[in-house]
Amino acid sequence: MIEALKPSLEARKKAGNFRALQVFDGVDFCSNDYLGLGRNPLNTEKQASGSTGSRLISGHDEALNTLEQNIASFHGFESALLFSSGYSANTGLLACIAGKDDVILSDDLIHASLIDGIRLSYAKRERFAHNDLKDLEVQLEKNCGAIKGQIYVAVESIYSMDGDHAPLAKISELCQRYNAALIVDEAHAIGVYGEQGRGLVSQLGLNDHVFAAIYTFGKAVGMHGAVITGSSVLRDYLINFCRPFIYTTAPSPQTIADTHAVYKRFQSAETKRRALQTVLQYFETQVKNIPLKNAHWLDSQSPIQGLIVPGNNRAKSLALFLQDNEIAVKAILSPTVAEGAERLRISLHSFNTTDDMDKLRTCLSAFLNDEKP
Ligand SMILES: Cc1ncc(COP(=O)(O)O)c(C=O)c1O
Repeated sequence: MIEALKPSLEARKKAGNFRALQVFDGVDFCSNDYLGLGRNPLNTEKQASGSTGSRLISGHDEALNTLEQNIASFHGFESALLFSSGYSANTGLLACIAGKDDVILSDDLIHASLIDGIRLSYAKRERFAHNDLKDLEVQLEKNCGAIKGQIYVAVESIYSMDGDHAPLAKISELCQRYNAALIVDEAHAIGVYGEQGRGLVSQLGLNDHVFAAIYTFGKAVGMHGAVITGSSVLRDYLINFCRPFIYTTAPSPQTIADTHAVYKRFQSAETKRRALQTVLQYFETQVKNIPLKNAHWLDSQSPIQGLIVPGNNRAKSLALFLQDNEIAVKAILSPTVAEGAERLRISLHSFNTTDDMDKLRTCLSAFLNDEKP
């Protein structure tokens, strides 16, 4: 029986994109721990390790209510609902809100968790070109009035692979004009953008025009888990219909206490947010400015920087060369990204030093400018 699995694995090996787990080592240019918070222990008092059941049976308590209320008001929404991960929040949300009469317009580069949620829903999916307002408007116009149900628009505020910002204010204007419900994944914005790290929706004052926002805790927040924020009607709907919320064990008292603690920790990490901005500036002016052969940088002002190095084997060899030089960078290969857009995904952190970045620049130049054709 196991033989049935082998051809796909062999095909991956042949295509140069076989995945294997690797222990992370070297100067960190690949984690999502943008503020360096995830590497420090929390001082929370020891709590019970289990919640004893799902939220709708025995796993709910007052501490969870308080946590969700605090998180909702911090991000500027009426309600919040906790999930064990961003993946389950996104799949659960999209799968349950949209039915067969609805359409979900999604940016071409949205995260796999949002795509999987759309696949699990009965709605029609239409894609629009990445960050392309004209294309979005064409799709909105085409569907508005032509479908029986609701139009949803799904975007990320900072894109996880390209690192660029969505034109959120303009997307929100379009959604209002065509009566579409806007869903924003803030996974890479929380902790980094907005007052005390509230995210970009809050920074741009768009809360009243966002149907649902997803905040994940696995990146700058330095933990794991996620919330879906929005109206109290949305929360009631999720409690009633969202399968990854209903059919799973509730977070433990330990997780609840730790989530309280990480929210306090990142809110007061202003010095780290400023240090991260200094790192971004240095990287922009001292690393991205050197000429590199057959490679180019994506346009990004965020901690996620993409260096396009076309070809799975070439991108992988460059990543291995950097790893041999004790620089932890990962290649992102096709089919995770489009063929020809294989890349190094370099993430920057408040703790990266100018020496780290100079070494990265030297290694990139040595590999790409001296490589044999
Ligand atoms: C944009 C985006 N949304 C959602 C997720 C999933 O979040 P989690 O890691 O908490 O499952 C990720 C990354 O993992 C992401 O990059």
